[in-house]
Amino acid sequence: MTDKLILTEDGSHSIYSEKFGVAYHSKYGAIQETQHVFIDAALRIKAVIQKEIAILDIGFGTGLNCFMTYLEAVKRNLKIDYTAVEAFPIPKQQFNELNYIQLLNATEHEKLFFDIHDKKWGKQHQLGEQFSLQKDKILFEDIQYENHFDIIYFDAFAPNAQPEIWEEPILTKMYKALKQDGILVTYCAKGVVKRRLKSIGFEVEALKGPPGKREMTRAIK
Ligand SMILES: C[S@@+](CC[C@H](N)C(=O)[O-])C[C@H]1O[C@@H](n2cnc3c(N)ncnc32)[C@H](O)[C@@H]1O
Repeated sequence: MTDKLILTEDGSHSIYSEKFGVAYHSKYGAIQETQHVFIDAALRIKAVIQKEIAILDIGFGTGLNCFMTYLEAVKRNLKIDYTAVEAFPIPKQQFNELNYIQLLNATEHEKLFFDIHDKKWGKQHQLGEQFSLQKDKILFEDIQYENHFDIIYFDAFAPNAQPEIWEEPILTKMYKALKQDGILVTYCAKGVVKRRLKSIGFEVEALKGPPGKREMTRAIK
């Protein structure tokens, strides 16, 4: 089974996963989705009150969330402690084909883009003064972080593709991983997921979704 590179409607690439039967990003635009759901609805909100921010990325995938977070850190002079979890990393050859550097006008950060993919799993890497990257090649089911993160980018495949990841045991792990006032954001707006988040103890908000999607979810611990 080979996962295919696809184009989304904003011109940015995504990958279609044969294993899960879905794409890594919204068909309406991968870059637009990351900007709206993760950068605007979480990182920019936290950055108003603090300059040092710890982030957990649930599903490193193509590394787009990670790269756009780095670019935002440079732009806003933030210090980011980034932990990326991924059990099934994409092959190097596919990573090389992604058009994110070009579409984000980020040629001056090209080396960083390739570093985030090439750096070893299971280790922490200091990538410039402002960005440290821990890459954990583990299953979401095995996550054990506690009170460490200011933000979680909850970017697993959708509930119809992997329902078990959106159930209480994993969502409770997310709650534990966050500090008090920590923010979990996801593109998913399903009522059942919002109800689960509430029952675990999150304060849950429905926000306007990225282009093409009506709503997204933000949950605060
Ligand atoms: C929607 S994609 C993430 C997209 C990613 N944030 C990006 O910008 O490309 C979901 C990711 O979660 C990974 N994944 C799925 N199930 C997993 C599991 N149980 N444990 C760890 N990783 C998993 C997939 O391999 C995929 O890379």
